[in-house]
Amino acid sequence: MGIAERSSDVTSFSQQRGSEVSSFVAMVAAIAAIGGGLFGYDTGVISGAILYIKRDFQVAAATEGLIVSAVTAGALASAMVAGVLADRGGRRLTNIVAGVVFATASLLCVVANGVPTLVAGRFLVGCGIGLTSVGAPMYIAEVSPARIRGTFVSLFQLAVTVGILVSYIVCAILAPAAAWRWMLGLAAVPGLALAIGMMFMPESPRWLVKHGRRQEAQAVLEKINPLTEPDETLTHIEHDLAAEGQGSWGALLQPVLRPALIVGIGLAVFQQVTGINAVIYYAPQIFEAAGFGSHLTALAATTGIGVINVLATFIAIWLVDRQGRRPLLIAGVAGMVATLVVLGLAFEGSPAGTATGSLGQITVVCLAAYVVFFAFSLGPIVWLMISEIYPLRNRAQAMAVSTAANWGANFLVSMTFPIMTTWLGSASTFLIYAALGVVTLFFVIAKVPETKGKTLEEISKLWR
Ligand code: BGC
Repeated sequence: MGIAERSSDVTSFSQQRGSEVSSFVAMVAAIAAIGGGLFGYDTGVISGAILYIKRDFQVAAATEGLIVSAVTAGALASAMVAGVLADRGGRRLTNIVAGVVFATASLLCVVANGVPTLVAGRFLVGCGIGLTSVGAPMYIAEVSPARIRGTFVSLFQLAVTVGILVSYIVCAILAPAAAWRWMLGLAAVPGLALAIGMMFMPESPRWLVKHGRRQEAQAVLEKINPLTEPDETLTHIEHDLAAEGQGSWGALLQPVLRPALIVGIGLAVFQQVTGINAVIYYAPQIFEAAGFGSHLTALAATTGIGVINVLATFIAIWLVDRQGRRPLLIAGVAGMVATLVVLGLAFEGSPAGTATGSLGQITVVCLAAYVVFFAFSLGPIVWLMISEIYPLRNRAQAMAVSTAANWGANFLVSMTFPIMTTWLGSASTFLIYAALGVVTLFFVIAKVPETKGKTLEEISKLWR
């Protein structure tokens, strides 16, 4: 056999091995991403369920707020716990616990016979979300080969968007029966699937090395990436660990970690303060203000936004490892700013702060475009980058802090949106989000590094 034939044999062998690798890692990523689906479903479902909960339990406005925001409080609190668990018990265990917590919490909501149990159940659901939003992206990032890491971590965001959409559909189907217990309880099934599925998945090789379990790490690396020499990867990981400081929470205050933390926390907060959840959580109200007469048309338009959110996430899945993180972030945030400005002006130019007629149509187009721009930029790339920019020794803690910051900002925006629209009007509210978008754009251009195609160990060198 000539050299040319042999080398073409080698190429096709490595292509075949390459696609086997991709499908194994894709399966690992897909199982972990179930947590993202629960994150999306459980944040979306409450808007439908609350209407019937209110009726059954005769709750006052303050209690209603408590039931709705218990999830965010749980996510905020448990993100920090997730940092400890992911560091000490492992990335795999964090995802298994998330699944168990989701399943238990959903069942608690089903049997709730009063407000305290329901609030406890929803708080626990939030704990599942906090655990998964730290555990899943980090786990996927640590098992994925560098060249396709962006695509695989973006599956987490895809699952979030699918979860939101499914929650809208489930609520629409179950609304005639006012079956809020089913709405909340259905999440127990994917919760169990996550816990059981993760039991069969390997531990992250990076976590194993960090805990001195080199041989097990080698076995996992051989499985997830047989095309590269595991010894070489192991040496890089060990070098990286040796070059880093202590792996404690206190180490987060050390100057060496500061630049990475500024980027991670900054991205996490900017993802929220540019207003995405004002749209996701309050879309029906915005559509009604834009002149959609009935509840039903407003709800149909909201479902449309859910579909667009899912579809546009594929743009990131397709491009994030080809074009890189920075170009997508810059294009997406610039688009978000432009659509927010037009939205603001549309509401500004209409009587009594409502956009009707052709201005109403502009509003709808702008909202849809805004969601598209978010869905291929700040949506997936924030979760991706906060799982890849931190050095291994402090990855769990730093990711926990960034995730907690994301949930804190989420809480702030969803609490203040109704107040801002009442006091300042819709126009000024959207223009404030646009101004924060401009700040985000400068931040990305000035501070966010490109991580496309780099191994996690190469990325951690960027900060040294
Ligand atoms: C954000 C959520 C948001 C969702 C919308 C996620 O990346 O963290 O707050 O609701 O995207 O798709």
